[in-house]
Amino acid sequence: MNTTSTMNKPLADKKALVTGGARGIGAAIVKRLAEDGASVAFTYVSAQSKADELVQEIKSAGGQALAIRADSADAGAVKGAVEEAIQAFGGIDILVNNAGIASLTPYDQFDLEEFDRMVAVNMKAVFVAVQAAGPQMKQGGRVINIGSVAAEFNPFTGNSLYVSTKAAVAGLTRALARDLAPQGVTVNNIQPGLIDTDMNPANGPSASVVNMVPLGRYGRASEIASLVAYIASPEASYITGATLNVDGGGSV
Ligand SMILES: NC(=O)c1ccc[n+]([C@@H]2O[C@H](COP(=O)([O-])OP(=O)(O)OC[C@H]3O[C@@H](n4cnc5c(N)ncnc54)[C@H](OP(=O)(O)O)[C@@H]3O)[C@@H](O)[C@H]2O)c1
Repeated sequence: MNTTSTMNKPLADKKALVTGGARGIGAAIVKRLAEDGASVAFTYVSAQSKADELVQEIKSAGGQALAIRADSADAGAVKGAVEEAIQAFGGIDILVNNAGIASLTPYDQFDLEEFDRMVAVNMKAVFVAVQAAGPQMKQGGRVINIGSVAAEFNPFTGNSLYVSTKAAVAGLTRALARDLAPQGVTVNNIQPGLIDTDMNPANGPSASVVNMVPLGRYGRASEIASLVAYIASPEASYITGATLNVDGGGSV
């Protein structure tokens, strides 16, 4: 690989899997990793047409992409998605655990089946994906979890379970960083603040708290993808076990 192509495409020859990659923050991450030269597989559960469009967009630009239907609430499906991505591209270098769900529901009305689903998607799936991908990852591999700054600062009522699952992601990140370090794989946690997506639209409940953000606005999904791209790159070789906030200062 020559120096110019390494500079333009820092992830050339890398193989990535992003969970929940058809829309929102996940789609921005998929696009950015592909722009940086990676072959990118991503999962979706409901957004099939968006998934198909994204694959076409990346392929039209000369990249490699693969959409895999896999419900993150189903551990077998998560494991299967990792195996399918490895099979398709011949390995895995970058795993981005992005799929997530949220619900602002009063604690005394929270349905316990929904409790189990949120724990399965936001937390258990992260562990299962690392269990499946970790042993296949080589020196320079990257696990990047998408937590939430809500784990540190939560301005909403009815958010206790979501906050707990994202705090668990931060804990998993720290402990898994030690587990994967001997094989030269880093594990980090990126915590978005208010990002304008279907989960958290700029005209939704968070509109009432955006004035608490020092930078005074919602973030863009591409602003999360920028940090993912950096952490995925060789530049970030000495960062592991870290939790990094991208929140316009909302947690200070
Ligand atoms: N937006 C924010 O302000 C914000 C702030 C902090 C953290 N985050 C975190 O950032 C991540 C992405 O959030 P977002 O704002 O982009 O949310 P979003 O717009 O609601 O998109 C959610 C993504 O997760 C996928 N997903 C949900 N349930 C899934 C399941 N059971 N199996 C597989 N995929 C599933 C969705 O897939 P389909 O498209 O197929 O439904 C979609 O790609 C989440 O982990 C979220 O907690 C977001």
